[in-house]
Amino acid sequence: MKNYVLVGTGSRGTGMFAKDIVEHYTDVARLTGLCDINPGRVEHAKKSLGIDVPTFTDFDQMLDTVPCDVVIVTTKDSTHDDFIIRAMRRGKDVITEKPMTINAEKCRNILAVQKETGRDVKVSFNYRYAPFKTRVKELLREGVIGDIHSVEFRWFLDTVHGADYFRRWHRKKENSGGLMVHKATHHFDLINWWMDLEPVEVAAMGSRHYYVPERMPGHGERCLTCGVKNNCEFYTEMTGKTKELYLDNEHHDGYFRDQCVFSDDTDIEDTLSVIVRYQKGIQLTYALTAATSFEGWYVAFNGSKGRLEAYEPEVFVTEEDQADFKQRKSSAIRRNVDWRKAEPGQGSQMEEIQSNQIRIYPLFGGVQTVDVPHVAEGHGGGDRRLKDNLFRPGGPDPLNHAAGTRGGAMSILIGAAANLSIAEKRFVTIEELLKG
Ligand SMILES: NC(=O)c1ccc[n+]([C@@H]2O[C@H](COP(=O)([O-])OP(=O)(O)OC[C@H]3O[C@@H](n4cnc5c(N)ncnc54)[C@H](O)[C@@H]3O)[C@@H](O)[C@H]2O)c1
Repeated sequence: MKNYVLVGTGSRGTGMFAKDIVEHYTDVARLTGLCDINPGRVEHAKKSLGIDVPTFTDFDQMLDTVPCDVVIVTTKDSTHDDFIIRAMRRGKDVITEKPMTINAEKCRNILAVQKETGRDVKVSFNYRYAPFKTRVKELLREGVIGDIHSVEFRWFLDTVHGADYFRRWHRKKENSGGLMVHKATHHFDLINWWMDLEPVEVAAMGSRHYYVPERMPGHGERCLTCGVKNNCEFYTEMTGKTKELYLDNEHHDGYFRDQCVFSDDTDIEDTLSVIVRYQKGIQLTYALTAATSFEGWYVAFNGSKGRLEAYEPEVFVTEEDQADFKQRKSSAIRRNVDWRKAEPGQGSQMEEIQSNQIRIYPLFGGVQTVDVPHVAEGHGGGDRRLKDNLFRPGGPDPLNHAAGTRGGAMSILIGAAANLSIAEKRFVTIEELLKG
């Protein structure tokens, strides 16, 4: 039985980790403390878990007071390094949410302290564990397309989920590293893991095209008090759990969960293009857009024996002209259907996705297909499988699903290099970031 404490009792910390420790992993794990800088949110977490667990607003005080083997870090991204390092220095192991951290300097500090202390740090790359993404890895390992030469990767965020990054703390690079780090850490990690290779150098472009102030003249600081809310396609109300977690606790820390997506001082991009050279000279082209009507991703690997394509549609706003945000995000409209099969006016009749297909095109013709059943659970089934691995470790891991600090570093360093490349308009090597 291991003792776990959790720092960062927002939606992810409580929903993904704390809840499952007290409900699902009771034979192997015990939750001994909760900590958050916001006293209201940490009390809310305790109440929603329905258990009597000590709560803290001071991390060191928590570690001084309660038994702890492992610290789970689910705070704002820019603070992960601080908790990871303090935990390791106090002889604790760590599970941290992605991104491990947000820039090269913080990354170097984590790597150095981990080397010094020898503590176990796991980065929770849930996407790796999803069965569909795992199948891609198996096929590449089996050599179905031979030696890989290049990779094409596209990721789409819609005007519900994508917009949310522009409402929250994520909208400032000092908090999140921008989508290049915060979001793309998942994607770069998948590429690194799929190929079992590390990146060498990176060049990038990034801009904010859609979530810009000019789109909504006269907008307010936040939806709650906005003077133009009646005309806004992004107006949202904080209700239910969002109200309990954020609106009811904003008097403690001044954090507004419903900031205007068109804010003037946002500094993250919504449109990203990256090229990466990997070991063995393999080239990656990557693009992310945060304002489409659907979500999902598409990857293609070109190799010496053929091409492998995997495509996973996630959700699609099935009805036309959904300018009302509440409607647009409702599960009746924003559905798990394949947008490539959409026909005009047909939206509501579209069928839910049952399986996703991987297509292999051998070099001299023909096609082979591999169907993988759709898993309608958190992150394509990745969340549950990740937690099984974290809380019941020690089983076989032939595909190296578990990620440590090296994996955490290699994914965020692509994002950090991309941010630097945008700022300085040049290729940035991973080595220069590792050396500092
Ligand atoms: N793997 C995934 O798919 C996935 C999904 C969602 C979120 N996440 C990650 O989980 C983390 C939390 O995200 P979230 O959506 O729950 O955000 P959130 O804003 O809901 O929660 C973050 C919490 O951290 C607290 N916090 C901030 N600074 C702190 C500090 N210095 N000390 C103590 N507490 C502090 C905040 O008060 C808040 O309660 C982020 O790192 C995010 O990237 C991962």
